Amino acid sequence: MTPIDLRSDTVTRPTAGMRRAMAEAEVGDDVWGDDPTVQRLEAVLAERLGFEAGLFLPSGTQSNLAALLTHCARGDEVLLGDRSHTFVHEGGGAAALGSIHSHPLPNQADGSLRAADVEAAIKPDDAHFAKSRLLCLENTIEGQVVPQALVEAACRVARARGLATHLDGARLFNAAVKSRCAPAGLTRPFDSVSVCLSKGLGAPVGSVLVGARDFVRAARRWRKVLGGGMRQVGVLAAAGLFALEHHVERLEDDHLNAALLAERLSGVPGLEPEPVQTNMVWVRVSSTLAPRFVERLAEGGVLASGAERLRFVTHLDVSRDDIERAARVVRAVATGRA
Ligand SMILES: Cc1ncc(COP(=O)(O)O)c(C=O)c1O
Repeated sequence: MTPIDLRSDTVTRPTAGMRRAMAEAEVGDDVWGDDPTVQRLEAVLAERLGFEAGLFLPSGTQSNLAALLTHCARGDEVLLGDRSHTFVHEGGGAAALGSIHSHPLPNQADGSLRAADVEAAIKPDDAHFAKSRLLCLENTIEGQVVPQALVEAACRVARARGLATHLDGARLFNAAVKSRCAPAGLTRPFDSVSVCLSKGLGAPVGSVLVGARDFVRAARRWRKVLGGGMRQVGVLAAAGLFALEHHVERLEDDHLNAALLAERLSGVPGLEPEPVQTNMVWVRVSSTLAPRFVERLAEGGVLASGAERLRFVTHLDVSRDDIERAARVVRAVATGRA
């Protein structure tokens, strides 16, 4: 039986409709500004998120990095969450490639950064300190929608002290669907936003960075420097456009499936699912169960990631029936009946 792959929402495969759109895409050399499909994707996302311009990049990591390099100069400082993807999971690119200093602040239980922490971390203009230049937030973070009032409060403090603001919105559409809010409502406090097409939206590749026209012009330069200038890449942009048209509202199904999985796993001895908001289910596993638990799930045909805090991510390629089957396998492994 095919395994049910809940390791990440990045594992989806392009649907038949998406493949058709890719095959039929009009293309040109995008480094020369000749690819109409890329241009359409950039314009559609910029408009949808309330910005002047957009830039298509190969990955979320490169999109966040291009944003940081554009906002910050050598020796500048970015304030960001200590659990944020940019701080933890992007290879220290800001330091490695931009000489940008990171000041991590505690992500609260709801994923937010406290405005008071942001205020206290902004340095005075003094040669002893790095120059505080940028606040970077993430939404959703670990599947949680950050309360918008707290996002706005943190950005207000940053802006009042002259910092720019960037949002890693890799899963912004999950946040928008969950909070029943237009994506532009969530992005309003930011100067730039990065959105991934290759996560819950189901495209094989790609992120789009949006911002003001001048900001995007400068980021385009960094994209080339980072090796992200691609040629007849309308074949990939077409997948992104297809995803925006067909795969946004259905994110609700992923959220319902995640909630269902958490419900099925509650009450299982040794497992403690955390409250679910969008498409991620985090489950604390007792120290007696944890060793080899994820391997035993894989043997039973369910792929997850982690060890003592397991992560199951729902997506386009898993159905409600798959979730019911996955829940049965997890319960059986946990209770020693597998
Ligand atoms: C919140 C967040 N930001 C950025 C990224 C980076 O995206 P990519 O894997 O396309 O580099 C990820 C990837 O999982 C992510 O979860």
